[in-house]
Amino acid sequence: MHGMDLDKMDFSLTPPAQEPDRQYYFMAKCREYIKEECERLNRPLRAAVITFGCQMNARDSEKLSGILLEIGYELTEDEDADFVIYNTCTVRDNANQRVYGRLGHLNSLKKQNKHMKIALCGCMMQEPSAIEKIRQSYRFVDLIFGTHNIYKFAELLAAMFESDRMVTDIWNETDQIVENLPTERKYPFKSGINIMFGCNNFCSYCIVPYVRGRERSRSPQEILCEIKKLVSEGVVEVMLLGQNVNSYGKNLENPMTFAELLREVEKIEGLKRIRFMTSHPKDLSDELIQVMKESKKICRHLHLPLQSGSTRILKAMNRRYTKEQYLALVEKIRKEIPDISITTDIIVGFPGEEPCDVDETIDVVKKVRYDNAFTFIYSKRTGTPAAAMENQVPEAIVKEGFDRLLKVVQDTARERVRLLEGRTMEALVEEVNEHDSSLVTGRLSNNTIVHFKGDKSLIGQIVPVYLKECHGFYYLAEYATDVS
Ligand code: SAH
Ligand code: SF4
Ligand code: F3S
Repeated sequence: MHGMDLDKMDFSLTPPAQEPDRQYYFMAKCREYIKEECERLNRPLRAAVITFGCQMNARDSEKLSGILLEIGYELTEDEDADFVIYNTCTVRDNANQRVYGRLGHLNSLKKQNKHMKIALCGCMMQEPSAIEKIRQSYRFVDLIFGTHNIYKFAELLAAMFESDRMVTDIWNETDQIVENLPTERKYPFKSGINIMFGCNNFCSYCIVPYVRGRERSRSPQEILCEIKKLVSEGVVEVMLLGQNVNSYGKNLENPMTFAELLREVEKIEGLKRIRFMTSHPKDLSDELIQVMKESKKICRHLHLPLQSGSTRILKAMNRRYTKEQYLALVEKIRKEIPDISITTDIIVGFPGEEPCDVDETIDVVKKVRYDNAFTFIYSKRTGTPAAAMENQVPEAIVKEGFDRLLKVVQDTARERVRLLEGRTMEALVEEVNEHDSSLVTGRLSNNTIVHFKGDKSLIGQIVPVYLKECHGFYYLAEYATDVS
């Protein structure tokens, strides 16, 4: 942990060069700015962090929130705040469009609240075309930074407070991982943990390797230390995060496999559940299957993105497995761990895809019987190899294939989820039900959602529930006394 007292920082000294000390220096500085502003306005200042992307993006938002709290902001979800930061995503074009749409609304809020500050960060900011557009058409934005320098948030905030122009700092890459910065958690009982950053796979449709950089694994010591600390604070479930967790540890000084890391995480006393995502099928080892099988803590759920069931399309996607290899892998996993639920991601409309390729995908869905599948329409990402392919599929044909696939996905998922009806299983209670406050909502080990009568005192507890009625993708359940 850092050993710096923010209240005793000497600003007459130059900022330390070393991280994370340098950031604590700037946090202390920001704290002074916020204090002055609070005194001037005679009220606390409020900040909102809005997440647009995946679980890794959400984890980054928690880090941003941790720093905002440390420097004296109150956190809110309301965008009518004194500081609003959008943590953006660019994996598909609709994610970008949502950001632009909501920025327009922020501008009108800023016109009413002149001292409001607006910042943008995240994956979309790593794209030069997005930066250009913001500089031209969204000049009211105060601060822009990317994915590689997010650890410098405090320093960038200080620069923003000291400038009346747009502050922009985007890096093309980094090999640094800065540890021990403050972070906030959305849930007291569960948390995401980054085990690696970036991606080396370059699937031909995907922008992530370009905006998140090369694969870097965190040291096992740092990961285990972070989890132990979280558990001491009441966390019972962790989600280990990486774009391809199965290649964890390859580039460490002392290489280590993901399965070996899981074995160490399993030993942490007080930790009850372990999840991870995402697994690339090409790197899923027998060792991992064995560790999952023997584990008492690793949840019975595997997210195993398929992307396409057509070997021809998989090749063009640079996924490096065939339809047959994927099916054989699923069979092997199901044989060893029969009660595992498998979910997936599928893209429809990749360049050159024909209805017969969609048939192949549907065939895999029927054979695997996924518990859930996220289906996406292919989105052309500038700079990726697929964007330059000539045989882009017309929208109407994509739509037709997408609808056909979606129906099969929904039917098979419903069938799978229903199989648990009448069983009693353990659920981790996550929240009071959004629509009916007499119910609480929890999650089974296999990731299925359950709703049952209960109150907020149950939140964070793992309790047995009787799975009474299956409603498509979730269960109406009853609190049970025993697990059968
Ligand atoms: N690293 C993860 C995926 C991260 S992106 C993995 O490989 O499994 C999450 C999902 O978005 C992907 O699995 C893919 O299905 C989808 N996706 C990525 N790029 C896309 C694009 N250009 N168009 C449509 N969907 C895309
Ligand atoms: Fe994208 Fe492929 Fe990397 Fe996943 S593994 S982030 S789909 S390039
Ligand atoms: Fe995640 Fe979107 Fe970036 S999916 S890694 S936030 S492009």
